[in-house]
Amino acid sequence: MVQREGKSRAGRKAQQSEAPASAPSNLPPARAKALAAALEHWFEREGRDLPWRRTRDPYAVLVSEVMLQQTQVATVLQGRYFERWMQRFPDLATLATADEQEILACWQGLGYYRRARHLQRLAQHVIEQHGGQFPETHSQMLQLPGVGRYTAGALASFCFGLAEPLVDGNVSRVLSRLHNSALPVDSSQGIAQLWCWAADLVDASNHPRALNSALMELGQRHCRPKQVQCEVCPVQRWCRAQEPLKLPIKANAVQITAVEEAVAWIWQEGRLLMEQEQGKRRTGLWKLPPLSRQPAGVPLWSGSYAITRYRVSLSVHGLGNAAAGRLLRQPGRKLQWFAPGELAALPVASPYRRALEALLPQD
Ligand code: ADE
Repeated sequence: MVQREGKSRAGRKAQQSEAPASAPSNLPPARAKALAAALEHWFEREGRDLPWRRTRDPYAVLVSEVMLQQTQVATVLQGRYFERWMQRFPDLATLATADEQEILACWQGLGYYRRARHLQRLAQHVIEQHGGQFPETHSQMLQLPGVGRYTAGALASFCFGLAEPLVDGNVSRVLSRLHNSALPVDSSQGIAQLWCWAADLVDASNHPRALNSALMELGQRHCRPKQVQCEVCPVQRWCRAQEPLKLPIKANAVQITAVEEAVAWIWQEGRLLMEQEQGKRRTGLWKLPPLSRQPAGVPLWSGSYAITRYRVSLSVHGLGNAAAGRLLRQPGRKLQWFAPGELAALPVASPYRRALEALLPQD
């Protein structure tokens, strides 16, 4: 028997019948039942055996969900990030008291480091406010710092089998195509409609965990943004998409802006000058010291990376003692020399780590 929190199908419908004309429309119950059953059965047969699917520990599931929020499954798997994190910080209490530099070092390579600090804050909150016991109801989960509708839905359904919906990028695409929806997925009306469909499906399911996992898995493996494999789709016969590759509709396409970033390579007496970021996206992480202008001359190394809506061309310039002196005299900068052996344990964001690997003397 699926547990609910006072949000039966009838309850959800009643809320909507009092709403204005543009309120989301529910799935007909028979369609919801058929879709949910097909998705669940497909997942039971075809779902991948992922490390975070072997547990129902809310802390472990939370770690995986936060890792997967802005990082692809393949990256998390290849780097064994989840397994390494769980080995180093196996429970809330260990994470709550861990050293921030160690946390950042363990997250190194996943990007968006704010997520790692949020996880620690959340662990501290559960220890302090809930006596270390993870909340077990959806509404309590939503009260946790940094936990939104998606994460609460994931925790509730994956750990406790609650019939709570979740919608992420994959689920949005699958549902938009299934219903051939013209509503932009980044509009408030489009978002409300997606959550309504997801709720109808999970309400009609017998296994919320399998249903929600199936929607995500379908989007990751077969109903992809630029490639569809409709012939293997478990819900193909219910799918109304005419031109699936044109869906979902987005009102505000993200504009990518190209920017250049120049950083210094200053090596003296077997040590490299590094700078710790402060008050920015990567607070606490170390990087090669940024330069205010692109110097003339050929860089020692160049590469590129993407961050939010930017495509960054990174160039590393070798500078001498005079430049080091100038940098070190600038107030407010946190500069420090490191020997190669010390650099290995330092949390360094991926683009700079790649430069270090290319430029540090090999022993
Ligand atoms: N992406 C986000 N959460 C996921 C999960 N639990 N399994 C697979 N992919 C995911």
